[in-house]
Amino acid sequence: MKEAQARTVYLKDYRAPDYLIDHTDLHFDLEPQATLVKSRLKVRRNPEAINAGEKTLPPLWLDGVDLELLSIAIDGKLLPAQRYHEGEGGLTLDVETPEFELEVHTRIAPEANTSLEGLYLSNGMYCTQCEAEGFRKITYYPDRPDVMSVFTTTIVAPSKYPVLLANGNKVDSGTTEDGRLRVTWEDPFAKPSYLFALVAGDLQYVEDSFTTASGREVKLQLFTEPKNIRKCDHAMISLKHAMRWDEEVYGREYDLDVFMIVAVDHFNMGAMENKGLNIFNSACVLASPETATDGAFQRIESIVAHEYFHNWSGNRVTCRDWFQLSLKEGFTVFRDAEFSADMNSRAVKRIEDVSLLRTAQFSEDAGPMAHPVRPDSYMEISNFYTLTIYEKGAEVVRMIHTLLGPEAFRRGSDLYFERHDGSAVTCEDFICAMEDANNADLRQFRRWYEQAGTPVLTVTDQYDEASATYRLTIAQRTPATPGQTEKPPLHIPVSIGLIGADGRDLPLDDSGKTSTVLNLTEAEQTFTFSNIPHAPLPSLLRGFSAPVKLHYGYSEDQLLFLMQHDSDAFNRWDASRRLAIKALESLQAQYRDGSEMTEPAALIKGLSAVLENAALDPALVAMMLALPSAQELAEECEVVDAGAIIAARKFARNSLANALSAPLLARYQQLDQRKPYRPVADDIAERSLKNTCLGYLCATLDPSSLDLARLQLQRDENMTDVAAALGALVEYAPREEAEKYLGAFYDQWQQDTQVVENWFLLQSGSASFGTLERVRELMQHPAFEITNPNKVRSVISGFASRNFTQFHREDGSGYRFLAEQVSVLDKLNPQIAARLVIPLTHWKKYCDHESARMRAALQGIMDAGELSRDLYEVVSKSLA
Ligand code: PHE
Ligand code: ZN
Repeated sequence: MKEAQARTVYLKDYRAPDYLIDHTDLHFDLEPQATLVKSRLKVRRNPEAINAGEKTLPPLWLDGVDLELLSIAIDGKLLPAQRYHEGEGGLTLDVETPEFELEVHTRIAPEANTSLEGLYLSNGMYCTQCEAEGFRKITYYPDRPDVMSVFTTTIVAPSKYPVLLANGNKVDSGTTEDGRLRVTWEDPFAKPSYLFALVAGDLQYVEDSFTTASGREVKLQLFTEPKNIRKCDHAMISLKHAMRWDEEVYGREYDLDVFMIVAVDHFNMGAMENKGLNIFNSACVLASPETATDGAFQRIESIVAHEYFHNWSGNRVTCRDWFQLSLKEGFTVFRDAEFSADMNSRAVKRIEDVSLLRTAQFSEDAGPMAHPVRPDSYMEISNFYTLTIYEKGAEVVRMIHTLLGPEAFRRGSDLYFERHDGSAVTCEDFICAMEDANNADLRQFRRWYEQAGTPVLTVTDQYDEASATYRLTIAQRTPATPGQTEKPPLHIPVSIGLIGADGRDLPLDDSGKTSTVLNLTEAEQTFTFSNIPHAPLPSLLRGFSAPVKLHYGYSEDQLLFLMQHDSDAFNRWDASRRLAIKALESLQAQYRDGSEMTEPAALIKGLSAVLENAALDPALVAMMLALPSAQELAEECEVVDAGAIIAARKFARNSLANALSAPLLARYQQLDQRKPYRPVADDIAERSLKNTCLGYLCATLDPSSLDLARLQLQRDENMTDVAAALGALVEYAPREEAEKYLGAFYDQWQQDTQVVENWFLLQSGSASFGTLERVRELMQHPAFEITNPNKVRSVISGFASRNFTQFHREDGSGYRFLAEQVSVLDKLNPQIAARLVIPLTHWKKYCDHESARMRAALQGIMDAGELSRDLYEVVSKSLA
């Protein structure tokens, strides 16, 4: 990409489309190298785009990329060449009548499509991915979400593709004269092109049904390659749970006669909500106890729900333009998070989500690609499927929920769906519905959609004994981000409680409530509480009520007290995290000064109490025990010294393991119950604590601890326990022995794609095993495939974003390796290349020698030649 071609699109330039497409009739003749696509469109001048006194009709713009144009006809007559013009990224046609039928024939080559956008092949099956702008790789079309059309799709394919699917309901099928199969699908709901989908393959399916609240029967089908048919049960159960939940919590019913899910191995993202025909990355839908870990089971449950929920928050009500992406994604992530919280443990789910936010979203918000939840501009929209749009967007919706309360929020969502059903709308429309349904004022709150950067809250307090008053003063400040220097104060809901000397919550007012949400709206504000009998300890930002960083001068003793007594489970965990970060920061300082590192005594004391507390949810105990990841610690640093982080973590982990070995062993033995595997919250909690204990025990290198792992591996009871044991052995057993286990594991599972992906990850992400040399070897392994994003993620991203130790090797070899791979991938799959490069883009935060080498690697990518628009945007912004 030359700089001049890297056009920036601005929200302020949005214009309604000149033409609408009332009906889209597609006909596919599938061939790997030459698929013929015929499209017939009913086109009509958009009344809302007509300028006063308009005399001539504007030209019609159709997006199109990598298409071979065969013919264009208007109202049945071939269009002469002078009436259209093929340009960069599409074509313009001269228009003579305000309504007409347009027929376009194009040819495409799915087999050559490695970008995995548009129509492509995955293990011999045809599938499509159209969000955000992939439909233009299928046919010429106004490929923008505010053009909503009713689609009819006919697929013709050789008989070796017996399953032919598209959106909506199947209305016809048969065979052509030459013996090929033909199926026609009709989707009665108008939709944008990004929700179009087609699948053709030799697939099997499992089927179930769901009866909606109003008594309609919906057929549910899950399609996979035959070898995976036994891995569909969990997704099917999850789907039915999600359908019921959306009826109960949001009053939303499913609308078509059939809901289909297809698993594909080659997929850029997790899954896609195409109307009636969701397409999933195999890793996000297929599971069995022998092959999938608890984490995978839970991820599948939440992604299946997420895509299903999009049927209302995304499909029935969609986005006007891609700047509004968080309208559907933020809202839908909030919905799926609440669903998972209801299905499992609420506190555990919250802690997991907040950890992701703090690790990855906070660093995005502090880096060169920082952008608001509703961005003002982009070069390539694919680069904006970010943690900010998804996770911070979900936090923004959650804050509305917190400010209004659940009933009012539901009134708002009812109004939103009722007002906007069948249309393409904006984040502003969502906020207005929330306001109008409740007479609420969210004017200042809107800044959350406009301002990038993570706000920092600084809290001080004061207790006055004479008047029994307690004052909390909260100051807010949001750091500057690229293009945004001034940041006026936000409206921030700060949920708090006050804890008395006996460890109990103090009543905050006459009503006796013990938690309250403070409305912070000013740069600095003081909140006063009266009738407080003695100086309390504040529990701040309960449940993580806002996506901010909060500073309060907690002492170690106060944190130990909160860990034990806070009635808010999230904050009990958060106190342990604060304590761990304090400890790890002083260890980093000791390492940098060259002084001897000292045992983190307070942390050991706190965790020992937690470990002995049988009343605590084991999952919570496991999460308290887990040290913050290197990435998370990096996020906390002003200047990152990767070497110091690695040394501090290692030292702390060993100290904890040695100091707590007795209670760790006791807990391990108590939880090692060998009951039949069920992926339910209570059992998952027990396994997570058991395996956390195992990891620590092995870190002591004590032979009998390693024996526990060896035994657990041999027992081969479920993948959660096997993967944990193997992981511990890879990290801590003698190298030769670890190699033996890895080899045996591969031999056992080589036929299973999902297991092999995790086998790759186990090695590439391992601090001791995953050297650059090993990673290069893995890339030569027969199971590695550079054109498969999951394989790239498990080997290359595993190394670059999970293996802090090896990636940040002092000689800079890890950085150069990543740059090399990014350049190779950019030619094959620009979306993946642009994601893969992200670890390098944070170079400014690193200390001098690391920073210079990361920057040089980035510069190398830039200099290597023509970049895709995707990669160009990320690299150029991070070098700026
Ligand atoms: N819209 C999908 C989701 O959030 C994500 C996606 C985006 C998938 C772009 C593919 C391509 O569920
Ligand atoms: Zn989504």
